[in-house]
Order: sequence, then structure tokens, then C-alpha cells
Amino acid sequence: MTLLSRVVIGSALILAWPIAHAADGQKVFTQGGSNPAAMACLGCHGPDGKGIAAAGFPRLAGLPAGYLSKQLHDWRTGSRKQLVMEPLAKALTDDEIKAVSSYLAGLPGDPAPTVRRQQIANDPTTRLALYGDWSRQIPGCVQCHGPGGSGVGEYFPPLAGQPASYLVAQLNGWRDGSRSNDPNQLMVGVAKAMTDDEVVAIAEFFANPASPEVKP
Ligand code: HEC
Ligand code: HEC
Repeated sequence: MTLLSRVVIGSALILAWPIAHAADGQKVFTQGGSNPAAMACLGCHGPDGKGIAAAGFPRLAGLPAGYLSKQLHDWRTGSRKQLVMEPLAKALTDDEIKAVSSYLAGLPGDPAPTVRRQQIANDPTTRLALYGDWSRQIPGCVQCHGPGGSGVGEYFPPLAGQPASYLVAQLNGWRDGSRSNDPNQLMVGVAKAMTDDEVVAIAEFFANPASPEVKP
């Protein structure tokens, strides 16, 4: 092999390298990661990424990429614990996390829930969702999670339409410490101040986007 051909082959390899290593988000979603322990996401999160409510598997489609990749990294570092997702997140490469997160963020999510304008929240759950309870330092959920719980920006995930059992599990995760990944501990205080009954009621409220909703 001449020196010239070595140089040519060498530069071709260098040029090809980033392409060969850029993970394909759709492939990770439908077929899994390069490590067999990183199972395909669609089996549990549904072929459209909209989750499987009956099984409590959350919707990922249309969630912000920054939020999704943060969750996967949080399972790796242990600030979020869960038996199924923890080993799976650990088996994904950084590149695969990045790729699958941006792929999922680009999938169509649920339409934003209709926000009905009315002045009075006439039941305690709606009041909690909209205005919180300042005597217990609970701000209204929609203050951070957006009108109808439809999510805001990269860091405040949607609650609307997520399975009720999933939402309950998250709130309980903050209460028992198995989820401690909230920036500035924005959620732990809220979750701990709520009663068991309120956790269930607020989860039902957001899980069912048809709930009468009041704009704050
Ligand atoms: C065997 C079932 C299963 C598979 C396969 C699976 N997941 Fe999950 N996933 C779950 C469950 C269960 C939860 C809820 C975990 C919890 O309660 O904290 C979840 C939650 C998540 C969340 C958190 C969503 C949120 O709103 O915070 C992300 C992100 C996620 N999965 C990404 C993925 C990706 C990416 C893949 C594919 C590489 C994948 N999952 C494959 C079962 C699965
Ligand atoms: C001060 C801001 C703030 C308020 C108020 C707030 N949240 Fe959150 N919430 C967050 C942030 C930030 C996250 C994402 C944490 C992370 O990165 O994992 C979150 C995440 C969640 C999640 C997990 C969603 C998922 O996909 O896994 C649930 C459930 C939740 N909040 C419920 C509520 C409820 C119910 C209320 C009202 C009682 C509420 N939040 C009020 C900031 C807030």
C-alpha cells in the first residue's frame, strides 16, 4: 500500500467515523440499543410512543428531549429508581440516549387539553391543581406544568393524559425518596405535603384530560 493510499483510506475513515457512530433514534425506539439489555422502547411505550395506559407505561411521544434524556441519565446515576427502566437506561450509550430522546420529542404527542374558562374551582382537587394550597406551601400544579398540565419548555413535563397509576407512582416516589431528581427540589415538597387521597385524586384529574379545567 502506498503512503498516498494509506492517507486516503485514513482520512476516509476519519470522515466516516462520526456518521458510523451517530445513533439512530428511530432504530433505538423500534429495535433497541446496541446492547441487548437496552430493549426496544415500543414494546412498552406503544408503537406510536403514546404509552399503554392500562399497564401504567407513560407516554414519551412529544415530551421535551431535554426532559427525556435527563430521566434516562437520572436512572443511570440513581437519582431516579425503578426496576424496569434502571437497567435499560444503563444499557443505552450516551449517543443512543440523545438520539432516542430527540426522535421521541419529534413524534406527535397528545393534543393539548381544552382549557375551559370559568372563575371558580368548585372542588378541592381542581383547586389544588389550579391554585395549590398555600397554607401547606403547595403551589398550583398548573403554575409549573402549564394550563391543563400540558407541559412547559424543556424541564416541566406534561401531566395531562399520562396514566393515573404512573402519576401516583411518581408522586409516591418523591414521598419515599426513590425519585429525587427534581431540579431545586421543586417536586419533593409538593408531593410530601399531599395526603394519599389527594395524590390519587390529582392523578385522576390529570390522567383524564376531559376533566373540567379552569384557567388560573
Ligand atoms: C419492559 C417495559 C419497558 C421498556 C422496554 C421501556 N420502558 Fe421506559 N418505562 C417503563 C416503565 C414501567 C416506566 C415508568 C417508570 C416509573 O414508574 O418511574 C417507564 C418510563 C420511562 C421514561 C420516563 C417518562 C417520564 O415521563 O418521566 C422514559 C424517558 C422512558 N421510559 C424511556 C424509555 C426508552 C427510551 C426506552 C427504549 C430504549 C424504554 N423506555 C423502554 C417501561 C419500559
Ligand atoms: C414549582 C414547580 C412545580 C410545581 C408547582 C409542581 N411541579 Fe410537578 N414537576 C416539576 C418539575 C421540574 C418536574 C420534573 C422533575 C424531573 O426533572 O424529573 C415535575 C415532575 C412531575 C411529575 C412527574 C412527571 C413524569 O412524567 O414523570 C409529576 C407526576 C408531577 N410533577 C406532579 C405534580 C403535581 C400533581 C403538582 C401539583 C400538586 C405539581 N407537580 C406541581 C415542577 C413542579
